[in-house]
Amino acid sequence: GDPDMLQDFCVAEYKSLEGPLRVNGFPCKRPENVTANDFFSDVLSLPGNTGNPVGSAVTAVNVDKLPGLNTLGMSISRVDYAPWGVNPPHTHPRATEIIFMVEGSLTVGFVTTAGNLFTRTVCKGELFVFPHGLVHFQRNNGGTPAMAISAFNSQLPGIQSVAVSLSRVSPSMPTDVLARAFQINAGMVEALNSNSAPMY
Ligand code: GLV
Ligand code: MN
Repeated sequence: GDPDMLQDFCVAEYKSLEGPLRVNGFPCKRPENVTANDFFSDVLSLPGNTGNPVGSAVTAVNVDKLPGLNTLGMSISRVDYAPWGVNPPHTHPRATEIIFMVEGSLTVGFVTTAGNLFTRTVCKGELFVFPHGLVHFQRNNGGTPAMAISAFNSQLPGIQSVAVSLSRVSPSMPTDVLARAFQINAGMVEALNSNSAPMY
């Protein structure tokens, strides 16, 4: 989770990014310029586009999208899943996640640092927790679209996809490092790296 706030709010002043000032998070807007709209968003009212190779779409409302979240230590996402769609294994370096099923049913899971997989089905109206920093995934269990809402205890949880981090980084990972890590040959590594699917 994020550090505690020191004042009622500190609405992000994005324009300061062009200036010399750098802080952990964003500097605050002048209070007289703050309005209710700084704390409002309607972007989760629309489904994300799941027409992609993995069949899922995360619509994140974090401090980059909602300035009022700056210093408040929380954010939210909507996740849409095509039939049998997958949200591939990933971690959030700065947050625990709690996911609430709005529509449909998912198989969810996370992996501990000891290599144990905690997995189960989560249905409409139910929820599941992914502990801070642990690799986790979801898969739609059905032939109809599913939708979930996730809350995070960080204004900017960050997403690090396992597959992307290992095989689609720029510049590319040394082939011998991946070959050793997975105990596969260089040809298989090249096959992974040549996957031109978008970033997940
Ligand atoms: C789901 O795991 C998400 O991060 O939105
Ligand atoms: Mn997640």
